[in-house]
Amino acid sequence: MTDLLARHNDVLAPVIAFDTDIHAASADGIWVTDPDGNRWADFACGTAVTNLGHRHPAVVEAAHNQIDHLMHSGCIVRYDSIVEAAERLRDVTPPQIEKFAFANSGAEAVEAAVKLAKHHSRRLGVVAFRGAFHGRTMGSVSYTTSNAKYRDGYHPVLGAVHVAPFPHPYRWGMSEDAAVDSSIHELHLMLKHEILPKNIACFLIEPVQGEGGYYPAPARFMDEVRQVADDHGIDIIFDEVQTGFGRTAEWFAADHYDAKPDIMAMGKGIANGLPLSAYGASAEMMNAWPVGSHGTTFGGNPVATAAAVAVMDTMGDLLPHARKLSEHAFKRFREVAERRETIGDVRGLGLMIGVEFVSDRATRTPDAKAFKHVQAHAFDRELIIIECGPDGNVLRFIPPLVTTIEELDWAIDLVDEGLESWESA
Ligand SMILES: Cc1ncc(COP(=O)(O)O)c(C=O)c1O
Repeated sequence: MTDLLARHNDVLAPVIAFDTDIHAASADGIWVTDPDGNRWADFACGTAVTNLGHRHPAVVEAAHNQIDHLMHSGCIVRYDSIVEAAERLRDVTPPQIEKFAFANSGAEAVEAAVKLAKHHSRRLGVVAFRGAFHGRTMGSVSYTTSNAKYRDGYHPVLGAVHVAPFPHPYRWGMSEDAAVDSSIHELHLMLKHEILPKNIACFLIEPVQGEGGYYPAPARFMDEVRQVADDHGIDIIFDEVQTGFGRTAEWFAADHYDAKPDIMAMGKGIANGLPLSAYGASAEMMNAWPVGSHGTTFGGNPVATAAAVAVMDTMGDLLPHARKLSEHAFKRFREVAERRETIGDVRGLGLMIGVEFVSDRATRTPDAKAFKHVQAHAFDRELIIIECGPDGNVLRFIPPLVTTIEELDWAIDLVDEGLESWESA
């Protein structure tokens, strides 16, 4: 055990889990380096944050420049970077998202988005979807059902929260169409038996469930949720905290769907590593939210918003490359799946790719041990990969957008080799 790890464990609460024991001394692009010069490619992107790679030069320069001039406002004085970041957000989000506010974390952005929906509609009900992850603060955990452990010990969570099924075709052993039909049927039953639509403020949805196992929402499911919302004056919040800022090889997952959000929550990649999140809605909705009925001291910090401006100035040029990476990775993983029995499913959107490991394809039995083996194999060869899904058996493949095709092939080869050694053991 390194000295740092012992000191870490001595003073830091174990509840905050770290995926590796790497002692990071520096990080650049896709690489993280320890004090002895050992390095690893970070295909976890600091949990889906450093989409532009660590310390992207444009982001570092913007943050340095800002820190030399103004580091804090606390909503007392006005400053350029917060306005510029909101202007850039208006350019890259769907057209109906017109005004923005900033916060510090994804959970905060989700909570603010729900507060906005409640205030807007003067209704209390929130419908979330099973398998979603929206954060771990008391409000956001009330909408989180990716894994029961997140709520264990914290009940009662917030009231008036209803959880509808989200289609998980592979896990349910169904075609996508059958899973969508079943989910829509259950949603309508919920509206008949559990909560009347007139009491629902919002549907809160991850267009691609992240933590829950990398399940993209089928377009027909999104269309139906949009239709129900339109029929009953319900707002839809897209939680794009993980899917945003190039992760799906578009600016947002919303760009892949006809169904659009009324409110968006964003975070993670927004400032490529500085703590920042945001939420947006129509000007009409934002202007009707009473002044001061929500607020923050640190949200929209000058340095973090300056970094966000640099992210948004840089990312657009990388999206075509991200699409190529995505196409290549899906093709390669599907080829690997033909050879490796352990892979039950390959799914996702853009560069948010889930590869599900099973011990038996016929029963789709989750195999977390296979994932751990492949993860250790990769780690010993300088690659960091992490998992998702309630069973810990889905490889969450999220390379930085600046990864080269050669680096991508190298990483997929390591997964393939890891599976080969698992299957031949
Ligand atoms: C979709 C989604 N929403 C919300 C959150 C919570 O974000 P944070 O950890 O920044 O509070 C996460 C974090 O993983 C997420 O993936």
